[in-house]
Amino acid sequence: MSQYAEELRNTAKAMVAPNQGVLAMDESNGTCNKRFQKQGIDATEEMRRQYRELILTTPQIGNYISGAILYDETIRQKKEDGTPFTQVMKENDVIVGIKVDTGAKDLAGHPGEKVTEGLDGLRDRIAEYYQMGARFAKWRAVITIGDGIPSRACIEANAHALARYAALCQEGGLVPIVEPEVLIDGNHTIERCYEVTDETLRTVFTELRTQGVEFDQMILKPSMVISGKDCPQQATPQQVAEQTIKCLRNNVPASVPGIAFLSGGQTPEQSAEHLNLMNSEPLKSQCPWRVTFSYARAIQQPALEHWKGQASNVADAQKLLSHRAQCNSAASMGNYSP
Ligand code: 13P
Repeated sequence: MSQYAEELRNTAKAMVAPNQGVLAMDESNGTCNKRFQKQGIDATEEMRRQYRELILTTPQIGNYISGAILYDETIRQKKEDGTPFTQVMKENDVIVGIKVDTGAKDLAGHPGEKVTEGLDGLRDRIAEYYQMGARFAKWRAVITIGDGIPSRACIEANAHALARYAALCQEGGLVPIVEPEVLIDGNHTIERCYEVTDETLRTVFTELRTQGVEFDQMILKPSMVISGKDCPQQATPQQVAEQTIKCLRNNVPASVPGIAFLSGGQTPEQSAEHLNLMNSEPLKSQCPWRVTFSYARAIQQPALEHWKGQASNVADAQKLLSHRAQCNSAASMGNYSP
């Protein structure tokens, strides 16, 4: 049992408090730059800093999000006026989170599949981040659906790494967000997505148990059970919500305090609608855990597109960001209307 057990339990509960979810803003420099380039924004450290300042200084953002996940570069950055971002977050009641994986790399011998790296030196990095004020962490595993994949090798390697990461986090005082993402890319049906998500979650929880991870001191960040982006037969929102909750009920212990979804390429409106349906009857009363969001694109995209790197657009971009955060806060209580 971790010396931090009680703190971890309290942090996990706070992360998924009523009306709140988590904002993911932990894009690696590579991913952030790609999104910037699409908007014609310079891919520089200073522009990434300005963008993250825009997000973290959005008025009232702390009403809708409990915490935000940062990237290593961001947790070390400051506002224009010299205030560290971590201090801005504390002042707004936003818990500091940190991405600790070092990215999904090609899985040897398994074309088209990835394994997430970052375990080497992780204990020391966790200690440093805790010192800097972080109280939770994130590690994202990627499972791809395609011809003959995912393989058992891919699911097991990723589940094992997630469990070792989660155990190290709990030892060092950070609540692990365990994120096995089954990608939406492809033309697979919702049934196929269900099968793969079911097998992935089953394997992840087996490995978490094996490594002694405490379920009441973690948050699960899954993808939804949904039709592949290019599947000609798209499931309805109600089907997505039902199949997702069914799959989670089959695999996630009731002692896990919260489930916080990724948006995974769904539009902002779809992500909010699906979350809202899961938090509405008849599904809501089937859930022993809080069901909320940990979205990146579904909260940030409209704001990023409006900002375009221009100081004169900051205030309106913040309004767009705040609006998406508010929509998802409402959806997490079953109160969203498009
Ligand atoms: P999206 O909501 O954009 O999928 O991002 C969530 C996330 O943190 C991916 O790791």
